[in-house]
Amino acid sequence: MTNTLNWGIISTAHINRRLIPPIKKSGRSTLVGVASRGPAKAQAYAAEWGIPRAFGSYQELLDSPDINAVYIPLPNNMHHEWAIKAAQAGKHILCEKPLALSVAEVDDMAQAAQDNNVVLLEAFQYRMHPQIAALQKTLGEGLIGEVKHITTRFSFVLEDETNIRLIKELGGGSLWDLGCYNVSFCQAVAQSDPVEVFAWQKTTAAGVEISLSGQLRYENGIVAHVHCGFDRSFRMSATIEGTTGDIDLSSPFLPDVDVNPSGFSHIVDRVETRIDTPVKDPYLCEVEALEAAALDGVPAPYTLAHSRGNIATIVALYQSAEQGKPVAVE
Ligand SMILES: NC(=O)c1ccc[n+]([C@@H]2O[C@H](COP(=O)([O-])OP(=O)(O)OC[C@H]3O[C@@H](n4cnc5c(N)ncnc54)[C@H](OP(=O)(O)O)[C@@H]3O)[C@@H](O)[C@H]2O)c1
Repeated sequence: MTNTLNWGIISTAHINRRLIPPIKKSGRSTLVGVASRGPAKAQAYAAEWGIPRAFGSYQELLDSPDINAVYIPLPNNMHHEWAIKAAQAGKHILCEKPLALSVAEVDDMAQAAQDNNVVLLEAFQYRMHPQIAALQKTLGEGLIGEVKHITTRFSFVLEDETNIRLIKELGGGSLWDLGCYNVSFCQAVAQSDPVEVFAWQKTTAAGVEISLSGQLRYENGIVAHVHCGFDRSFRMSATIEGTTGDIDLSSPFLPDVDVNPSGFSHIVDRVETRIDTPVKDPYLCEVEALEAAALDGVPAPYTLAHSRGNIATIVALYQSAEQGKPVAVE
């Protein structure tokens, strides 16, 4: 039994820049290697980021016995294949969001993790940040009475057609990329998954969804509106409406990253009171969550059941947008 996670990173993805510092900083993690689809790219990247080992293929990294945990920041359509291969190689896994592109894929991945006795954690950093726990506590204490409605937005302008987010076969689409946050945030507030959804979408000529607006109905009576898109300015926001007041979050999905401080506002009769929450790098939170789950057996605050509900809701939203009618969530 080891006391350290010895990490390998699978690919030279852009998002790695957020994970490399916390992995290096955490006392219970060591960054051992990075893999790329070719040796030259892996070596150049390892040199640039001060990573000891470079692997010329993803499988070579998985075959390395001195690595016991991997970070998978691959295009969305590759999460399923490489998480299963990593589990079969006995590695604990932090896999980027969205975990998979279907409920069946989530179930396969969960089964592989269970069969090989490893932890599989979807990298929803904000769900492991203290902001969300503080929000849930505040809601539980009844600060805004009974929650009735949730509205969330996540958008930025994306026009580069070579970006993985605009390539359908790679799992492109703004709901997969951004809206997965909105849906998972509603899950955290409603404390369940919706029973029914309805959505409208806008797609490119190549059939990739670039804007989606959806309604989610929960069994407990809460209704949520999620909207996301690559067709308008950068903004994330969330408003929770209760019987005695509202809560606004200006940075629901990237707390304490760049210029986005954590915390929220409590609004009653147009009077706004700021509630600060602990400041922490959310990417360090997810590194620590994998450490605690893999090394101490402490369940992560975001479970595979949450991942499954999130993916089921996204799939239903896309089905609804295509069919033009409400769809029940699986
Ligand atoms: N949690 C967050 O805050 C956050 C933020 C951004 C992105 N993400 C997630 O992280 C993942 C990666 O996003 P990213 O923006 O970092 O992507 P990216 O920069 O395009 O990187 C993806 C990497 O995958 C590898 N790859 C393998 N097959 C590929 C293919 N057919 N086309 C393109 N790349 C391929 C490439 O690495 P090699 O060439 O080295 O093999 C590439 O560098 C996505 O799942 C995304 O949703 C999460």
